Amino acid sequence: MQIIAERLDRISPSQTIAIATKARALRAAGRDIISLSAGEPDFDTPQFVKDAAIAAIQAGDTKYTDVAGTPALRRAVAEKFRRDQGIDYAPEEIIVSTGGKQVIFNAMLCTLNAGDEAIIPTPCWVSYPDIVSVAEGKPVFVPCGQNNGFKLRAEDLEAAITPRTKWFILNNPCNPTGAAYSAAELRPICDVLLRHPDVWVFTDDIYEKLAYDGFKPASIVTVEPKLRDRTITMNGCSKAYAMTGWRIGFAGGPKQLIRALDKLQSQSTTNASSISQAAAVAALNGPQGFIGEMVAVYRQRRDMVVEMLNQAPGITCHKPEGAFYVFPSVHGCIGKTSPKGARITDDESFVIALLDEEGVATVHGAAFMYPGHFRISYATDTESLRDGCSRIQRFCRGLV
Ligand SMILES: Cc1ncc(COP(=O)(O)O)c(C=O)c1O
Repeated sequence: MQIIAERLDRISPSQTIAIATKARALRAAGRDIISLSAGEPDFDTPQFVKDAAIAAIQAGDTKYTDVAGTPALRRAVAEKFRRDQGIDYAPEEIIVSTGGKQVIFNAMLCTLNAGDEAIIPTPCWVSYPDIVSVAEGKPVFVPCGQNNGFKLRAEDLEAAITPRTKWFILNNPCNPTGAAYSAAELRPICDVLLRHPDVWVFTDDIYEKLAYDGFKPASIVTVEPKLRDRTITMNGCSKAYAMTGWRIGFAGGPKQLIRALDKLQSQSTTNASSISQAAAVAALNGPQGFIGEMVAVYRQRRDMVVEMLNQAPGITCHKPEGAFYVFPSVHGCIGKTSPKGARITDDESFVIALLDEEGVATVHGAAFMYPGHFRISYATDTESLRDGCSRIQRFCRGLV
């Protein structure tokens, strides 16, 4: 008898993690590897956040908490949503989970019946399709072209909606493209959603704080409060506070749905770590100045990477508004042969040859449901980034 359930056949392991693992293995074998594949800030968690966690341990804050999170953290999250998004969520309309990823997982598992559809604009974060699929839902992809800044057009959203559509999942700013939507850009999308009252909205705003040149990513409910009763607004500490390992994500949403997420979580992980929750209270309520410093560094890196990539023959790189990724096209490299004889037939053979021949780890576009491109994370120190981009230039110049 097969021990592994058929459910698992519906998903594949995270390809971004797979590439990071391969890069680490090459490095362990002595190769000089520059990894531009990571999805986490290279900055350290701020000291005042670490101090709050240490104080929580010392104070004996080491027990189970409410499933939905400590009252202090839910208050801090409610205040965050009020301050940054202008959305009023009561503490009963908020849940804290073990990373934003668990919020998405819980939300899909709690709501999707077999065959229900979730609309996902692509390129998309690797985990959305798999989470929808494991919950027996059907991902419906809507491609968003580089010529539209990788942003969803309202008419394409409308065309994708069917009687089976349960969710529209929006990631703003987006992993892997860095594309972000302003309030004005969300307006036509909200108008479509208003015309389809049975469609729920999951907005993943986890990169909200990482936007450049004064760009302000908007959130769905801020733009259209009438969508509040059918929207989950998700955010977390991982990216804004360089806290990926602490595993704190959170969401606001209608009480009935938050109660369902709470019920499921009570039978799985119970609560997010009590110590991490104390740290998250400090992060959300404490001084926010270091975010601006981090954003200034990311912006310089983004500009450098875009400029250097656009100098690489065969590569076209759009300059995005946010997150810490760029998603260049490799169309001009397809059909060529690398210096060491690898045929570049698609984005995957491109990133494999780039890793083998120049020791630069990136992620191919197909992993994000959008072939013909690759993702570079610039959450890496500036020198490594410059070196990585020089190697990409050399690799592309060597293609014949
Ligand atoms: C778009 C997006 N959403 C959610 C997450 C999950 O973040 P967390 O660390 O809070 O689980 C990530 C992490 O890479 C992400 O890129």
